[in-house]
Amino acid sequence: MTRTVYVNGAYLPEHEATVSIFDRGFLMADGVYEVTSVLDGKLIDFDGHYARLERSLNELDMGNPTTYDDLLEVHRKLVAENGIIEGMVYLQVTRGNPGDRDFAFPPEDTVPTIVLFTQNKPGLANSPAAKKGMKVISIEDQRWARRDIKTVQLLAPSLGKMAAKAAGADDAWMVEDGYVTEGTSNNAYIVKGNTIITRALSNDILHGITRAAVLRFAAEAQMKVEERNFTIDEAKEADEAFITSASTFVMPVVELDGAAIGSGTPGSVAARLREIYLEESLKAAI
Ligand code: PDD
Repeated sequence: MTRTVYVNGAYLPEHEATVSIFDRGFLMADGVYEVTSVLDGKLIDFDGHYARLERSLNELDMGNPTTYDDLLEVHRKLVAENGIIEGMVYLQVTRGNPGDRDFAFPPEDTVPTIVLFTQNKPGLANSPAAKKGMKVISIEDQRWARRDIKTVQLLAPSLGKMAAKAAGADDAWMVEDGYVTEGTSNNAYIVKGNTIITRALSNDILHGITRAAVLRFAAEAQMKVEERNFTIDEAKEADEAFITSASTFVMPVVELDGAAIGSGTPGSVAARLREIYLEESLKAAI
């Protein structure tokens, strides 16, 4: 089936959708994005993703080409047209096409480019990976200093993912000044005793929408949460580890740099949080 995608106001078959070679997203990675998951044909945490999109645009002084209502409608229409029951909606906004290459921002009246497409992922909620757990390696964090902005500059995370693959692992946790920042495309957590430990929010990490929900659910379930830095050594001594993101929800990590974490199998805290997250998010899905 040909995917229907959305480009600057038009719904098109994917092979007919184009963006200019002068687009700032293409030439300068001057763009931001969001990934919203779909379960039961409904959007998970749409409000959170819209709020973060607005924040990313604001931080980069980029115009917002859409509104909450319009964007929700585009998401829903693409999900329906493409028959997505489980999967994701990818959204990207760039500073648009100034018609030439220049480091300076284009004139104010340059229209931002907006692109959305769906990704069909049957079995996303019931993923076998969640039962098996992931292996991660540690790498240096080579990204820029504003990781709180969800930009499309993804070369460092992409190289990290390839390094993990080459090492026979599934993903990489990035380390800066001796402390874990986050995974290549997810937030990172360890569990010691009854305490969930994850890095505090700052410009050093992306403010995960899944993270916010999971920490809220953890607090509601009387679990203890500490938002602080942790090292790879501390992680290796942890009872459990896991990641969160819109595309993985809560996913256990069972191995770090070749060393088993805890029993080397998915832990009960991660399993419980995944269950609560899926249940509560589905209830609130729109
Ligand atoms: N990645 N940290 C980074 C660096 C990320 O790229 C992501 C999301 C997260 C988790 O954020 P959220 O819970 O809002 O998805 C944390 C998306 C899924 C991606 O790039 O595909």
